[in-house]
Amino acid sequence: MNEKTAFITGTSSGIGAATADFLCASGWKVYGTVRNLDDSKDLTSKYSNQFQAIVYDVRDVDTLSTLSKKIIDQLGDHGLDLLVNNAGIAVAGPLEEISNEDFEMQLDVNVKSVFRITNAFLPALIKNGQSNIINIGSISGLFTSPFLGAYAISKYALESMSDAYRRELLPFGVDVFCLEPGPIKTPIWKKTANAFDKFSNSRYAPYVTKIANLSLKSIKKAKPVEEVVVVIDQIIQKKALKPRYVIAANKLFYNFFRYILSDRFIDRQIKKKIYS
Ligand SMILES: NC(=O)c1ccc[n+]([C@@H]2O[C@H](COP(=O)([O-])OP(=O)(O)OC[C@H]3O[C@@H](n4cnc5c(N)ncnc54)[C@H](OP(=O)(O)O)[C@@H]3O)[C@@H](O)[C@H]2O)c1
Repeated sequence: MNEKTAFITGTSSGIGAATADFLCASGWKVYGTVRNLDDSKDLTSKYSNQFQAIVYDVRDVDTLSTLSKKIIDQLGDHGLDLLVNNAGIAVAGPLEEISNEDFEMQLDVNVKSVFRITNAFLPALIKNGQSNIINIGSISGLFTSPFLGAYAISKYALESMSDAYRRELLPFGVDVFCLEPGPIKTPIWKKTANAFDKFSNSRYAPYVTKIANLSLKSIKKAKPVEEVVVVIDQIIQKKALKPRYVIAANKLFYNFFRYILSDRFIDRQIKKKIYS
């Protein structure tokens, strides 16, 4: 295979779809996962030779090895240039009230699948020898908001996983990046829009409502997906070399102040904003 190659999870919409579109437009061959083939229609009709839709639920452990072997065979000696672990969900609500199933699903989709998929494609990334893994983290992997705890736990874990892989892969020509977007305009917000409703009878109800309203405000200020794609472009062009990139309006807070402000100080600000 002569062209550059990428495997991206979650290309039905949002950041994954925009990244697949950008890479195909730049001449890459992209393997993109969707759960429903209909969701890949736009990309397959636009890039019939370059975009290959793979129907795969990232929670599916059983079929991963067959699927990755098939793709790795197609990639041949060139191997894989880029793996983008993008598929993700956001489980919202007070930790006390989240069901075991929802908590497990949060970790399975956002964390465990990244471990399984990365390991499945590592032989092809190592064979390439100049490849990148880009994990789509979040500012929730740097700062934990109340009632978004499950999501934050998953994204904090992804930060650590990114560091572990990056350091373990230093001898093998595979670099690992973690992007940390703040609010980005994608369907994920619609999918979680009513997520707080089911806690209306809980002890946390008044506070959850405040967080839901704050979320609505931040959606209005959400950045376009292109801001994430620009960073991905810089990484593959080797113009961006830092292991992590915050893509949010208040970068200074996430890159600097969160390290120097005490947790108790931040707790007090949260108390004023949400609990008073
Ligand atoms: N948008 C933001 O404000 C924001 C901010 C920070 C980080 N992020 C992160 O960015 C990533 C992409 O999210 P997005 O904002 O682009 O939202 P999105 O449009 O909802 O995209 C999420 C993608 O993940 C896929 N997905 C979810 N569960 C899956 C599963 N079990 N198996 C396979 N695919 C699955 C979805 O497929 P289906 O269509 O089949 O559900 C979809 O393609 C996520 O990791 C998210 O945490 C987003």
